[in-house]
Amino acid sequence: MKFFLDTANLEELRKGAAWGVVDGVTTNPSLIAKEGVPMREQVAAICSIVNGPISAEVVATDFEGMVKEGREVAKIHPNIVVKCPLTRAGIQACSTLSKDGIPVNATLCFSPGQALLAAKAGAWCVSPFVGRLDDLGLEGMALIRDICRIYANYGFKTQVLAASLRSPLHVVQAAEAGAHIGTMPFKVLDQLFNHPLTDKGLDQFLKDYARAFQEAPTGRE
Ligand code: E4P
Repeated sequence: MKFFLDTANLEELRKGAAWGVVDGVTTNPSLIAKEGVPMREQVAAICSIVNGPISAEVVATDFEGMVKEGREVAKIHPNIVVKCPLTRAGIQACSTLSKDGIPVNATLCFSPGQALLAAKAGAWCVSPFVGRLDDLGLEGMALIRDICRIYANYGFKTQVLAASLRSPLHVVQAAEAGAHIGTMPFKVLDQLFNHPLTDKGLDQFLKDYARAFQEAPTGRE
């Protein structure tokens, strides 16, 4: 499973990229707004940090507007994936942009039927939002499992990008379900490293090594 960072914060992206485990980035209008820099400028900066697919979302809501904006946004960098919402106009724009060879991320997917529409429209990927379904008391991960099964049944090329992942467990469950990509906040990527036995084990290794070599009396045969 590819790891994408779900952030528009350049500092977080630099840290994640330095670890060598970040394959791409997803942004949305809320994440861009948080950084206080206009979308095109911020997305260009992101492209200079992470070498992989970078999702940039259109804010137009009508078909013509989304296609126009999508074409402009795609010109920012060859790695841009245009994000269109899973509305009627969004799916129509997805179909048009995909036929032009512009990769589209069909976002705000909350049902297997919507994911089928995204695949039929030639989306490069679909983004089912796990955490937001959990927030409603539903099992968000079941949607990832359903979409992966449906896509496999028909050999759809559209990738499943598990989005709105809120914990390390979500990341692991998305991988178990067969998602092609998992996008996560920086905090969740950071949490994936944590295990007390790793810290304890390393501490013991270093103590043993120091005892054997650094504290040994000099001149011993
Ligand atoms: C995905 O592309 C979205 O930006 C994101 O995963 C939404 O996550 P949230 O529900 O935690 O805001």
